Amino acid sequence: MIPHSRPTIDKKDAELLSDVLLSGQIAQGEKVAEFEKQMARFLGVEGCVATNSGTAALHLSLVALGIGEGDQVLLPTYVCAALLNAVNYVRATPVLVDINPRSFNLDVRDLKAKLTPRSKAVILPHMFGLPADIDEITALGIPVIEDCAQAVGATFQGKPVGSFGTLSVFSFYATKVITTGEGGMVASHSQALLEKVKDLREYDEKDNYRLRFNYKMSDLQAALGLSQLARLADFISHRRKIAGLYSASLKGFAVDLPQESEDRRHIFFRYVIRAKRPLAAILRSFEQRGVCCRRPAYKPLHLLLGLGGFPGTEQTAESALSLPIYPSLKEEEIEKIVEAAQEILR
Ligand SMILES: Cc1ncc(COP(=O)(O)O)c(C=O)c1O
Repeated sequence: MIPHSRPTIDKKDAELLSDVLLSGQIAQGEKVAEFEKQMARFLGVEGCVATNSGTAALHLSLVALGIGEGDQVLLPTYVCAALLNAVNYVRATPVLVDINPRSFNLDVRDLKAKLTPRSKAVILPHMFGLPADIDEITALGIPVIEDCAQAVGATFQGKPVGSFGTLSVFSFYATKVITTGEGGMVASHSQALLEKVKDLREYDEKDNYRLRFNYKMSDLQAALGLSQLARLADFISHRRKIAGLYSASLKGFAVDLPQESEDRRHIFFRYVIRAKRPLAAILRSFEQRGVCCRRPAYKPLHLLLGLGGFPGTEQTAESALSLPIYPSLKEEEIEKIVEAAQEILR
């Protein structure tokens, strides 16, 4: 079975990890500081603070912004529950927003309609690797937490995502574009916010008491992160090449192909098409042919919460299909995926 996701790890990654393992310094140390420095340079931001997950990065960003009970945080409903959890951790009120079914990103019109004087932040994911309408959303004047968990290396008008928001977050979970097994990062242009996130990340050796966390990344993870970051450009060009091949092979088939536009660079964390027939049968057919496809966002948040009124998302959730796409796919695996897709989606 060709898995839906697979990390791209090589011998060099293993050697670098083993060097750290044998060095005597395995918790947060110089490797973490170096990973933060290189990410900040890559993004062109003031600084970065590494965490042990993307969820922790979201949580610390909300706390650093001073968001709490009585505040509203807007987020799309077509996303994983990590975002909703982070809003609930700080006891703020989540306000779900519909998506644009063509881009899978937040629908700016619905967002504007839901803004109130209590709106204190927007969490804006760049879904599946395609930058969202970040210019229109930052122009609204409320803090934006860019969620780049699926989009490291994507660009909007030539600038990397993660360099636009008040704060930005990243995830380096095993399935992500670059991985540290589990891991995350907060980025910002604001030194004051970065200092707050840094202070909140660990609890030890403080002169005062406040609620703090243990959300640190280890040097073992950071060593892997550094090695992966060095290969990011190569990973993205592989992903874009495979996406181009899939799109060329599925032209004229009964599916909507992923959207691309000139002002933004898609990194194809996921290759998501919209099928015109029931998904369950399509997923089964792929599985019978040895290809694991998935619904790219398992269940929209409003359905988890028993809510309605999100037509763009519901239309998407019933039709969106994610094909395997990652740099470690072998030629023969890509051929098998294309053959299966052409047969099943004919
Ligand atoms: C858009 C988005 N944000 C945040 C997260 C949470 O990241 P993590 O799993 O590292 O906590 C994910 C995880 O898949 C994600 O897809």
